[in-house]
Amino acid sequence: MPRPIQATVHTAALQHNLARVRQSVPDARVWAVVKANAYGHGIERVFEGLRGADGFALLDLAEAERVRRLGWRGPILLLEGVFEPRDLELCSRLDLWHAVHCDEQIDMLAAHKTQQPQRVFLKMNSGMNRLGFTPERYRSAWTRLNALPQVDEISLMTHFSDADGPRGIAHQEEVFLHATADLPGERSLANSAATLRHADSARIKSDWVRPGIVLYGSAPDFPERSAADWGLQPTLTLSSKLLAVQSLQPGDSVGYGSRFVAEQPLRVGVAACGYADGYPRLCDTGTPVLVNGVRTRLLGRVSMDMLMLDLTPLEQAGVPFGFGSEVTLWGRSSQGSSLSIDEVARAAGTVGYELMCAVAQRVNFAVDEGSP
Ligand SMILES: Cc1ncc(COP(=O)(O)O)c(C=O)c1O
Repeated sequence: MPRPIQATVHTAALQHNLARVRQSVPDARVWAVVKANAYGHGIERVFEGLRGADGFALLDLAEAERVRRLGWRGPILLLEGVFEPRDLELCSRLDLWHAVHCDEQIDMLAAHKTQQPQRVFLKMNSGMNRLGFTPERYRSAWTRLNALPQVDEISLMTHFSDADGPRGIAHQEEVFLHATADLPGERSLANSAATLRHADSARIKSDWVRPGIVLYGSAPDFPERSAADWGLQPTLTLSSKLLAVQSLQPGDSVGYGSRFVAEQPLRVGVAACGYADGYPRLCDTGTPVLVNGVRTRLLGRVSMDMLMLDLTPLEQAGVPFGFGSEVTLWGRSSQGSSLSIDEVARAAGTVGYELMCAVAQRVNFAVDEGSP
């Protein structure tokens, strides 16, 4: 028997979140960002839920091949472009569109032998200082690309650093607008946060938006707003079961380092989930967890394979528990209650993105194709 821990991907929730994005930007086409193996969900497991998108955006050529193998014939965009010249052969073979963010990638294109001109997204560094041509160098890069027989259509792209926070997108929009005003081509600017938070105020409408995290039911700006506030549904549940129940007396401690000490008699559940499953060790006493759908809290230090929970709220609610009771680390319980991944991430000092991507290989995944 495998350990009872399981990750479940909810197809209907992916469809719902995609529809939520479309509601925010009805005129834009949507790249479903499925990099990092669909934010840890598994590309094959999210495909059904996201196939209503207009294209798939990712980084890894092997992941692009997997999307084609699933039968997807529409656009696929490589968000970081190619890494070496032979990648361009794969772009031709699989009909991949690719970002161009540096001179070296233009050099590779210029040397590439192909009958089939390629669609590129020329990336501007409008202030994030990660990838892209500076505004001053952007036009000359465009002119160089435009002269290449290897290049078909050129779209214009940038990425926002602060769409989720108080600084916003206006300063980068201004830079982008100024440098591209008279350049032809489709525009792609908005990530999740820009798509939800700035759709109405944006000065430049994205022809293509690039949401990732919202498709996976996590709020881009938690805790300012929650996933529920945005009308998003969790797409990933991490659940397990109780392996044991302990009865503590005042003064008894729980787990490594005795970090939690009972002040009164206490029933403690031991769940089959630890940091080797991807649950963050940085979560401490108080991190929310559901047991049989009832919200309670983590006690003490997370160990490699187990963590401990306070069963008092179940006793108070008269909800029975014992060996085999369901534990929901994040996502949805069988009883219908849910726990946002963002809350757990916050308790660990991180973001939902990291938790999704970190679910360990030893955890079995299932796909729930049911309705939300
Ligand atoms: C270029 C680009 N576009 C879009 C996204 C999607 O971002 P998010 O998941 O915040 O929507 C990312 C993610 O890092 C990205 O690097």
